Amino acid sequence: MAYLLKGVSILGAEPTDLYIADGVISAPVENAEVVDAAGLVALPGLVDVHTHLREPGREDAETVETGSRAAALGGYTAVCAMANTSPVADTAGVVEQVWRLGREAGLVDVQPIGAVTVGLAGKQMAELGAMASSAANVRIFSDDGFCVADPKLMRRALEYVKAFDGVIAQHAEEHRLTEGAQMHEGEVSTRLGLTGWPAVAEEAIIARDVLLAEHVGSRLHVCHVSTAGSVEVLRQAKARGVRVTAEVTPHHLLLTDELAAGYDPVFKVNPPLRTRSDVEALRKALLDGVIDVVATDHAPHAVQDKECEWAHARPGMLGLETALPIVLSIYGPQWELIADRMSRAPARIAGLTGHGGDLTVGSPANLTLVDPSARRVVDPSELASRSRNTPYAGMTLPGRIVATFLRGEATVLDGKAVK
Ligand code: DOR
Ligand code: ZN
Repeated sequence: MAYLLKGVSILGAEPTDLYIADGVISAPVENAEVVDAAGLVALPGLVDVHTHLREPGREDAETVETGSRAAALGGYTAVCAMANTSPVADTAGVVEQVWRLGREAGLVDVQPIGAVTVGLAGKQMAELGAMASSAANVRIFSDDGFCVADPKLMRRALEYVKAFDGVIAQHAEEHRLTEGAQMHEGEVSTRLGLTGWPAVAEEAIIARDVLLAEHVGSRLHVCHVSTAGSVEVLRQAKARGVRVTAEVTPHHLLLTDELAAGYDPVFKVNPPLRTRSDVEALRKALLDGVIDVVATDHAPHAVQDKECEWAHARPGMLGLETALPIVLSIYGPQWELIADRMSRAPARIAGLTGHGGDLTVGSPANLTLVDPSARRVVDPSELASRSRNTPYAGMTLPGRIVATFLRGEATVLDGKAVK
């Protein structure tokens, strides 16, 4: 199928006609299906370096297919699937299974992330080489959900992935400092009498890991940066030329620990929501590039795991279908910034060469069309995710994703998933 996106604005530029044929942005062709794109903005397809798809193991919360649909509806053309499935994605067999399920769903490119350690247990290095050379072609390794706490193991993992330009994505949490933690450690936790998760538990691990990455000369990626202090550690490391990249989630850019006061577990997440001044520092860091990308940490949870007492609820929030509207609500129509932090830079970090490219003739037609003037109320019952744990229910957000194209095929048209 060929398409003509009529009157589209590429990254906010003057309206033009954009043709898609044979999987690429093309010169004008005949018989293209016309999409009225007046008032719509075209962005390179979004890329998420941090998504939990829950398959295998917790298909009641999400499957590769339902998560892929949520991603496409959110404007994504590629997502990196975290390894904390059951069984854990710590072998070539499991990462190939996830990769194959992604291909079968055919809605986004699903790039599996491999575990750093066997069973995420932090004791023994997983078969990183076998996962890298498998059909899934794994380049990002992470124990996300857990921190690779052992510095010797972390060093060895960094050394190992250097050979194939892989990257270790660290969930930075010094567990000894977060035992029993329920929320951010600060004024609000004191008031509520809940055990706190101090900022230093994140900052100490990032400081250690940038030194290890510097020593080894290898690539480190820091997951879900959540504190102002972490930003400063990263700023210094980058100034020294350490090969470190970092992500921030939409929820850490928007929400604060005050929300824990209502004890609604929809606001429980790891790392926890922080303070207003952390939020301000994160927003600035994304602008000035100290933080490279927005990553969703889309963490679907079944109703019984979320709608219970705060202390027993699983941490995590949905993110794929609301990420772009949240970013638009914070930064406004800064399309270059959005394209860089949500498509180009994540594609570069993940090594996904077909994604995050320029929307010029000959490039793979991975793109999304956004209506920036539309505003929508987030209704959990309308989400494509199998789970309902969105912290944005009832909020009015700007920006509607009208269409998404994966290698020239529409995955979303008229705001609806094509399959
Ligand atoms: O909130 C979180 N949820 N943080 C994590 O690190 C893991 C994730 C999950 O898997 O639910
Ligand atoms: Zn995660």
